[in-house]
Amino acid sequence: MTSQNSSANIGRFISIEGGEGCGKSTQIKQIANRLSSIGIDVIITREPGGTDNAEAIRELLLSGGDNRWDSRAEALLFAAARGDHVRNLIKPALMRGQWVLCDRFLESSRAYQSGGSGLSDATILQLHEIGSEGFLPDRVLVLDLDEDDANERVSMRDGDVRDRIGGRPKTFHTAVRQAFRSYAEQDSDRIKLINASAAVDEVTDNIMDVLGDMINA
Ligand code: TYD
Repeated sequence: MTSQNSSANIGRFISIEGGEGCGKSTQIKQIANRLSSIGIDVIITREPGGTDNAEAIRELLLSGGDNRWDSRAEALLFAAARGDHVRNLIKPALMRGQWVLCDRFLESSRAYQSGGSGLSDATILQLHEIGSEGFLPDRVLVLDLDEDDANERVSMRDGDVRDRIGGRPKTFHTAVRQAFRSYAEQDSDRIKLINASAAVDEVTDNIMDVLGDMINA
């Protein structure tokens, strides 16, 4: 697997990960504002989605009953959507020198389709090799929040409405959280665990600290 090269005129690719309700959307906007304010050209995108084709796959993945897809079909669809996104949006933006902030990426597939759904991590990485030639973010930010606090935030935001995957039981989301935490432990240079229970601006400050070396490079 290769993370994208870090030559000065190429942008940086940062994914923001975590369970439902961990505050990703708020933090992505805050980080984009902070980076823009220091002259960095930044775009925000999301997964599943980001391109027309990947957004069409998103609709297939997130609507319908929980058993609509089995875990293999689901993992394949995420990998296909990601491949289109990488080829047609992420890599071209990086080549233009833009920084790309991506709301979820590979670690979500590892956590939800493997940690939560029983496929092996090796299988998910293999699918990523096929779909996206193993392309990796320069930095992965995992926003970590206790499941009960996260669920409370989601209920305040969305009431009882959950998408096909978000609506899975608490045990599933606990396994997802543990999986995210383990990736940060295994690859601590690239994957950073951020405590998402602090105040919004404090969380952003902590994120900017862990991006410091890339900003000053
Ligand atoms: P979204 O509405 O973007 O959720 P959130 O606001 O929590 O980010 O829906 C994305 C859902 O898809 C979410 O439940 C996580 C799941 N997902 C996977 O299961 N695997 C993946 O690879 C990705 C990118 C998302």
